[in-house]
Amino acid sequence: MGNVCRTAAIALCLWSVFMHFSRLSALGVNELLYFRVISPEEIGYLFSAAPAKDFGGTFTSFYDEIFLVPADPADGCSELTDREILQGQVILVERGGCSFVQKARNVEEAGGKAVLIADNAEDNDSQYLDMVTDGSTAKPSIPALFLLGRDGMMIRRSLQRQALPWAVISIPVNVSALASFPFKQPPWTL
Ligand SMILES: *[C@@H]1O[C@H](CO)[C@@H](O)[C@H](O)[C@H]1NC(C)=O
Ligand SMILES: *[C@@H]1O[C@H](CO)[C@@H](O)[C@H](O)[C@H]1NC(C)=O
Repeated sequence: MGNVCRTAAIALCLWSVFMHFSRLSALGVNELLYFRVISPEEIGYLFSAAPAKDFGGTFTSFYDEIFLVPADPADGCSELTDREILQGQVILVERGGCSFVQKARNVEEAGGKAVLIADNAEDNDSQYLDMVTDGSTAKPSIPALFLLGRDGMMIRRSLQRQALPWAVISIPVNVSALASFPFKQPPWTL
């Protein structure tokens, strides 16, 4: 009997992983990119983000530990402050106020390695957006990724609560290499 239950549990587990991927492809996003928060621990989950459709670069290496720093101003629409701590890091900005391209350019000019643009609809946790260019000529060359509003809010809130200037993340995470481990995704996503 015990064996049957264990077998059932494994089947259920495989099924939920399968459903997870079906759900992602149902969103119409070709290729999501994953990152893992290492610190703070309370949000130590595997997050997914959608690369911009027609601008921005791709990651050329895997970063085991890199900082994720919230931008100031939060929307990244004007020149960013605290440039020393942004150098070579991944920058978190909020949607709104200006184009995605403008945000990514400001982050690139400040020395950021990549930009995560979180939706400003904080309770909208079901929709990825295809970020497209605003038609301006100068396209940013750093990777630009769209993050669900709820995920961005939870990351910011955790940093504020713990008075931390940044999170430590691994990006990108190769999920095929993780296939035999449980996915530890944000509980609020499910
Ligand atoms: C959620 O966000 C997506 C992308 O911005 C938008 O198309 C959709 O209408 C939003 N849904 C709700 C319920 O706000
Ligand atoms: C991701 O992991 C899979 C399985 O271990 C491996 O075959 C693949 O080459 C990896 N991809 C990259 C880009 O490292």
